[in-house]
Amino acid sequence: MRLVLLGPPGSGKGTQANAIVARLQAPKISTGDMLRAALAAGTPLGLEARGYMDAGKLVPDSVVIGLVEERLKEPDAKNGFILDGFPRTTAQADALGALLARLGKPLEKVVQLDVPSELIVERTTLRRTDKRTGQIYHLKYSPPPPDAELEHRADDREETVKQRLAQYEAMTAALLPYYQRLGLLMRVDGVGEPAEVTARVLGALGLAA
Ligand code: AP5
Repeated sequence: MRLVLLGPPGSGKGTQANAIVARLQAPKISTGDMLRAALAAGTPLGLEARGYMDAGKLVPDSVVIGLVEERLKEPDAKNGFILDGFPRTTAQADALGALLARLGKPLEKVVQLDVPSELIVERTTLRRTDKRTGQIYHLKYSPPPPDAELEHRADDREETVKQRLAQYEAMTAALLPYYQRLGLLMRVDGVGEPAEVTARVLGALGLAA
């Protein structure tokens, strides 16, 4: 399955990608995770991305398109992938479409997780991630085990989350009509228990929960 997960910041893209990765037997490819790894490793790419990420702005298209192009060439992505957080602009969507057309492997589905803005701030500010496993927790809805090594993302402060939401509205929301026109878009209600949302996502993909 060649799948894109779309949705505003904190809508549950990472949580849902982790939940369906084994079922789809396809890797999760998250540009946010790749950029944070580059930042943690102190690479030139990470240093370039940092200012944008800390400010809640999008990293330039050329940077993320290059990252994804390289990642999709890896053997584990040959038979499918779950893209989480990419594309985020029309230019990124065009580049992805062109790349997949060259490979003769077009996108099969785009799933948008719909979550109202009022819930986004609570979801993101109380998010914690286990830095050893990458597992995503929430202090209220999905509490971490006592031995987790928790990280709080620098861009999960309330003012930055609001800026990320504004960027989503300005740059990424345009991908809904874009993929609707291509007949690929499925919209899923992202509110409810994570397992309920997973069942809805699988249903949208035509798979039983
Ligand atoms: P990125 O890491 O992609 O951030 P995002 O899109 O803002 O999404 P998040 O990771 O914040 O949220 P999510 O939807 O994955 O939600 P999650 O499952 O964690 O990008 C970060 C930055 O990198 C960007 O701002 C930008 O600077 C840069 N970047 C990345 N990609 C880029 C691109 N393509 N182009 C340009 N720049 C790019 O869930 C959130 C919380 O809610 C968790 O605590 C979770 O436990 C909880 N939760 C999940 N589901 C539920 C539920 N059903 N009920 C209650 N709580 C839930």
